[in-house]
Amino acid sequence: MKIFDDIPNYIKEMVPYPPGKPIEELKREYGIQDVIKLASNENDYGPSPEAVKQFTSTADELFRYPDGSGYYLKGVIAEHFGVSRENIVLGNGSNEIIDFLCRVLVRPGRSVVSSFPSFLVYQKMVQIMGGENIVIPLKEGCHDLEAMAAAVRDDTRLIFLDNPNNPMGTIINREKFHAFLKGLPDTVLVVLDEAYGEFVRDDADCVRGADFISQGGFQDPRVVFMRTFSKAYGLAGLRVGYGIMDARIAMLLERVRQPFNVSLPAQKAALSAMMDREYLTRILQAIWSEMDRLSHALEALGCVVASSNTNFMLVDTGRPAREIYEALLQKGIIVRAMDAYGLPTHIRITVGTKEENSSFLSAIGNLLGS
Ligand SMILES: Cc1ncc(COP(=O)(O)O)c(C=O)c1O
Repeated sequence: MKIFDDIPNYIKEMVPYPPGKPIEELKREYGIQDVIKLASNENDYGPSPEAVKQFTSTADELFRYPDGSGYYLKGVIAEHFGVSRENIVLGNGSNEIIDFLCRVLVRPGRSVVSSFPSFLVYQKMVQIMGGENIVIPLKEGCHDLEAMAAAVRDDTRLIFLDNPNNPMGTIINREKFHAFLKGLPDTVLVVLDEAYGEFVRDDADCVRGADFISQGGFQDPRVVFMRTFSKAYGLAGLRVGYGIMDARIAMLLERVRQPFNVSLPAQKAALSAMMDREYLTRILQAIWSEMDRLSHALEALGCVVASSNTNFMLVDTGRPAREIYEALLQKGIIVRAMDAYGLPTHIRITVGTKEENSSFLSAIGNLLGS
């Protein structure tokens, strides 16, 4: 078909995003019933019961379109951060905010700076828009801010920084970020992706997008930050995320979104999840405590565990990661092998529930002991 000749190479050459192995696939392939998935940094403790109640309550309203402006959800987010609704853009996951930013700012002849390894979706969205990715390797597991600033060109429009970084779990130091920002031109937006922001324990040291909010607006319009309901709030299946930014930029992003991009159940559940601060605190404590337990147990098995400000951990098993990954799969446990990230002996594991973590520890203990 002639139509294929007209598709640009940057689309033809795209490699699909590699999602964690789906539970159903493992059940089918290996005939295993009890599967534990510690591969996609989900929150296995689940969402607030209040959020589930609100989600269920929408059953009678499913024939209606959702509120396209997300008025009530934006209201709760605005109050939480001390901004106005005009500073907030809602997305079908924070993935969609990345998409909006790229749609507005990237096209052939424009470039975007990001790190490797970091969240792979940044590069994909840039590629879809025909832009050029300038990719800077992490330095000692952290974003190399100096090298990133030096890589910015006249045609650079975005810098993506996942803070904490996925997969390293490291954070960006506040002073270093301010120095970095100082040297940047106003032809570029700096996107702090705080998908794991709620999990950060080294709070005093970590720069936050919220640091740039002042009197309901933005001190520095070059800074955009993103959050999600997929991680700490346990609503990955509903797909809700948001970006907070200067109102003039938010207005541009609003222009490129579909009119009803966040579903009715998603809006209602996210609103309740955000209001249930007590549940969030309890879940964070549980995850932190399990993370410490996993860390100590894995170190006792001879692994090297990177300290992490997220709900996942990067573990150097000292053995080929693919082998460990395959052997765990056979036992019904899905983790991430990090060979594709240039880390041939590392796996990445999400902190699961106490029972899931115990099963994982027992399985990996058997493997590493053998
Ligand atoms: C660093 C980072 N940013 C963003 C996301 C996207 O999250 P969502 O689209 O579910 O909000 C993820 C998901 O894994 C992530 O790791």
